[in-house]
Amino acid sequence: MKNNIIVLLTAMALISGCTKDKTPVPLTEIGGGNCDTNHIYFVNDVLPILSSNCAKSGCHDAITHEEGYNYSTHAGAYSSIHPGNLNDSKLYEVITTNNGEDMMPPAGNTPLTNEQIDIIAQWIIQGGLNDECTEGDSSTCNTSNMSFANDIAPIISSNCNGCHSGSSPSGGINLSNYSGVAAVAASGKLYNSVAQNGMAQSMPQTSKLSNCNINKIKAWVDAGYPNN
Ligand code: HEC
Repeated sequence: MKNNIIVLLTAMALISGCTKDKTPVPLTEIGGGNCDTNHIYFVNDVLPILSSNCAKSGCHDAITHEEGYNYSTHAGAYSSIHPGNLNDSKLYEVITTNNGEDMMPPAGNTPLTNEQIDIIAQWIIQGGLNDECTEGDSSTCNTSNMSFANDIAPIISSNCNGCHSGSSPSGGINLSNYSGVAAVAASGKLYNSVAQNGMAQSMPQTSKLSNCNINKIKAWVDAGYPNN
């Protein structure tokens, strides 16, 4: 634990040299059939990864914001990148380095997957915009024949596993495999936590899934949470 704290502080000291005082970029919402499947949307694609893996309490959340980095907002993430330039972006550097001291999340936490790193990289390359595709919230959300592997696990991986995986998962709940997810599905807590309906603790802790993703989880739970 002590080592983790030292590693964290060192890495924070390293990224603090970066430009932090950029003007906040207002959110642009895209909908009406105009979402681009090749574009990475900050709110849909990047924020869940940062919220789950970086904005934990004690690290880069709104309350602690180590060294001024609050990764629960666009402004916080934007302050640690140079739009369009991966090699000059501290955020990219700390999630790709193998150097133990700079590495993020710090040793002992679940590392980002290659897919998650790629999403963040694409977001930086595409200009680090503050945007959201709102399509999924409309009637276009497909919730039929939900598959655990193809539909549910990716939602959980991006939004939950920064806290709910590894050797000491939050609340003792490990959601990195089917049996862990099935257990909270069976108790009703999976749906109640993401629906944020007051019947379980609201999850993820600092944000809310899109209505489309909440409905997908509901459909899968209602179908008997199959391992398909
Ligand atoms: C930033 C960290 C974090 C993220 C992200 C997160 N959780 Fe949690 N979760 C926790 C903590 C901490 C607890 C334990 C709270 C407690 O017991 O006080 C918890 C508890 C829970 C519980 C038990 C709730 C209850 O009322 O007993 C469920 C179910 C859960 N999480 C599901 C999820 C799901 C599903 C996601 C993703 C959609 C998610 N969590 C994302 C930190 C997180």
